Amino acid sequence: MVSSTTSFIMTRTSLKKKFFSCCVLIFLLFAIICVWKEKKKGNYYEFLQNKEFQMLQGLEKLAMSSSSQPVSSSGTHNPQRSSQALGGPKAKLKATFQVWDKDSSSKNLIPRLQTIRKNYLNMNKYKVTYKGPGPGVKLSAEALLCHLRDHVNVSMIETTDFPFNTSDWEGYLPQQDIRTKAGPWGRCAVVSSAGSLKSSRLGREIDDHDAVLRFNGAPTVKFQQDVGTKTTIRLVNSQLVTTEAGFLKDSLYNEGILIVWDPSVYHSDIPKWYRNPDYSFFNNFKIYRKLHPDQPFYILKPQMPWELWDIIQEISSEQIQPNPPSSGMLGIVIMMSLCDQVDIYEFLPSKRKTDVCYYYQRYFDSACTMGAYHPLLFEKNMVKHLNLGTDEDIYLLGKATLPGFRTIRCGA
Ligand SMILES: *[C@@H]1O[C@H](CO)[C@@H](O)[C@H](O)[C@H]1NC(C)=O
Ligand SMILES: *[C@@H]1O[C@H](CO)[C@@H](O)[C@H](O)[C@H]1NC(C)=O
Repeated sequence: MVSSTTSFIMTRTSLKKKFFSCCVLIFLLFAIICVWKEKKKGNYYEFLQNKEFQMLQGLEKLAMSSSSQPVSSSGTHNPQRSSQALGGPKAKLKATFQVWDKDSSSKNLIPRLQTIRKNYLNMNKYKVTYKGPGPGVKLSAEALLCHLRDHVNVSMIETTDFPFNTSDWEGYLPQQDIRTKAGPWGRCAVVSSAGSLKSSRLGREIDDHDAVLRFNGAPTVKFQQDVGTKTTIRLVNSQLVTTEAGFLKDSLYNEGILIVWDPSVYHSDIPKWYRNPDYSFFNNFKIYRKLHPDQPFYILKPQMPWELWDIIQEISSEQIQPNPPSSGMLGIVIMMSLCDQVDIYEFLPSKRKTDVCYYYQRYFDSACTMGAYHPLLFEKNMVKHLNLGTDEDIYLLGKATLPGFRTIRCGA
């Protein structure tokens, strides 16, 4: 009896042992898979399959100590500058910061995003009939800036624009032009909502600007260290105004100047767009205005996104998605019309690049960086082409610097 009990207990212990080692094995396997996946995700510029990230850690540390240099206002783009900044005249360090390539092509997109782009090209929801010049027109950064300044009208719907001049709209639009409320400013910041802003500790640097533009529901509360506290302009899309229950309630929207934009059919005028908006946000716009009559709230003219789109298409070497530019790109050009210098954070991704879409949500999708609906890839090419800052600033801070339209000189 005794022996049988002992043997029973023995079997139980050995079973337990086996079970335990099985658990350990499974856990190890799981951990290995996790680490592998994490590594894959974190691969810098995974979409550029032919390029590899070659940054040496030692160089990175060196660069860190010199990253607080102000952006040169000379405006000449010098790809060697980052290496010069690293060492004195004697140090011949060749640091190359692997950042966004201004000639990125859709061929480098992952297959899923290539398919989505093709589907949008076939769908042509906004009835785009682009007649050229372009695609593939080569413009210098200086010529492109003048082109943008002269062909993209950054203006808001006015009380004299039909049908906003009718009694239905009386008292709803701000009385004063946006330029009496906004700017002219010196240095401005455009803060993307990218997941890579997380742990960036850019808050103080961002707040140090004369004006800060943010997008849609991007919060500052609880994220101050990374994104700052100041909101001077908030650009929101019509979908948010129409469908987001929080829009009328959340105090997040009550600070600064609001601008809403809605995509029209390609180059349609205001009356035509008004009859057929992408999202019918007009009712909620009026409700919001009644609740907050003293907060400036503008409607971007629907022509502006397509004027900008035409130029992105013109300078891109292939067909871009026939959908309006991203809010990010619109915000950048809006600020270029109001400021002398525009610092853009995490539009061109830094070393923190991630598939996490927003710094305030746990949502993964490579489309958020590379573009699916919006021609984001081509917008980034354009911003990289125009960047006055260094590759070092892009790599370390996610910062690109564009001049304001007022500061540029254009020929006859
Ligand atoms: C920009 O808008 C103004 C006023 O709405 C208009 O007079 C002008 O022709 C527009 N410019 C371009 C380039 O479309
Ligand atoms: C509104 O504008 C349209 C087009 O400019 C004009 O024909 C119409 O008379 C205006 N309506 C009012 C009430 O001013």
